[in-house]
Amino acid sequence: MRRFRQALHREVLAWYTISSRLQRYFPMSETTTPRQRTTSGQGRTFDSVLDTIGNTPCIRINRLAPEHVEMYVKAEFFNPAASVKDRLAVNIIESAERAGTLQPGQTVVEATSGNTGIGLAMVCAAKGYPLVVTMAESFSIERRKLMRFLGARVVLTPKAEKGVGMYRKAEELAKANGWFLASQFETDANATIHEFTTAREIIADFPAGSLDYWVTGYGTGGTVSGVGRVLRKESPDTRIILTEPANAALLASGHVQARTDSGSPAESHPAFEPHPIQGWTPDFIPLVLQEAIDGNYYDELIPVSGADGMAWSKQLAQREGIFTGVSGGSTFAVAMQIAEKADPGARILCMLPDTGERYLSSPLFDGIAEVMSDDEVALSRSTPGYQMADS
Ligand SMILES: Cc1ncc(COP(=O)(O)O)c(C=O)c1O
Repeated sequence: MRRFRQALHREVLAWYTISSRLQRYFPMSETTTPRQRTTSGQGRTFDSVLDTIGNTPCIRINRLAPEHVEMYVKAEFFNPAASVKDRLAVNIIESAERAGTLQPGQTVVEATSGNTGIGLAMVCAAKGYPLVVTMAESFSIERRKLMRFLGARVVLTPKAEKGVGMYRKAEELAKANGWFLASQFETDANATIHEFTTAREIIADFPAGSLDYWVTGYGTGGTVSGVGRVLRKESPDTRIILTEPANAALLASGHVQARTDSGSPAESHPAFEPHPIQGWTPDFIPLVLQEAIDGNYYDELIPVSGADGMAWSKQLAQREGIFTGVSGGSTFAVAMQIAEKADPGARILCMLPDTGERYLSSPLFDGIAEVMSDDEVALSRSTPGYQMADS
């Protein structure tokens, strides 16, 4: 019965795809002339910024997607602090409040490459907890500034000590001061929020097994472990594609991560090399990700280079108007590989974890000039008024 329903769904989908392609080539006037857009509000007010987390849209890729498939991106930059980590941040704090392990006014501390820190800073500001973030000096400047702007203190750690260094510093500070350690790499609050929110949204937006591929990267592994739990049960025909940096292919190496009793890393993983995909693949395999490995939550593991990720991030911005960071571009690079070889009518969903605005001072913006190009100067000179004195 289930197979029949899926086959029927595919037929309907194929018809829909054919008719939308026909509309593209032989457009009817009602589709070429856009109607006046209107909005009607959400019909509710929000008690806190925290209530606006989640329910991010899955958006169709119209110009970059190969003709024979339907591609969508789940745009996590629609979260209030502009990344997927808002979900985890609110759940870490609220799970600890429920468990009584976080007391009113107690300081929260966490090691983070940025997005978790920004999410935690938002949550802590909204709920009145002081926040201290430890972060390797190598991450982009705007991340530090954003956290400080949101009221957090940021303690930098040496680049040479890698992810394990900033991690140990957070542990040290928590122990010395009796602070609450958020433990994003080990806490079950991480994958659980993706099980209860991200996965529910995907199932609702792609009902009855109508999603053929779901593509994601990993940082802590919360997204893949939490969504994997649900897709494996409720949408078993959806193929889960996991990706990691080509020059830091920890999972592909097969080397088992050494851990302490608490599950935290006992050593830096030997397959790790510094890579440009910020937020992805620390120098250890997190405990949260281990669930996805042990539970066979992914069907394929595809490496991607940082250069490809940046190129696709630019393509998404310039050809689709979708502004995401390096990890989003990298995930999309892999989704495009999947799309090229997928069957006609396949539906593919790609996670976009954050906004490109988080990378203004990073190599993603190399080649994006501040001054006018020759072409822009020529444009300025092409009419008489309002020219810059020095152009
Ligand atoms: C920019 C970016 N992309 C992707 C991820 C991966 O998300 P997760 O930690 O759920 O694996 C993160 C988080 O670490 C991130 O900051």
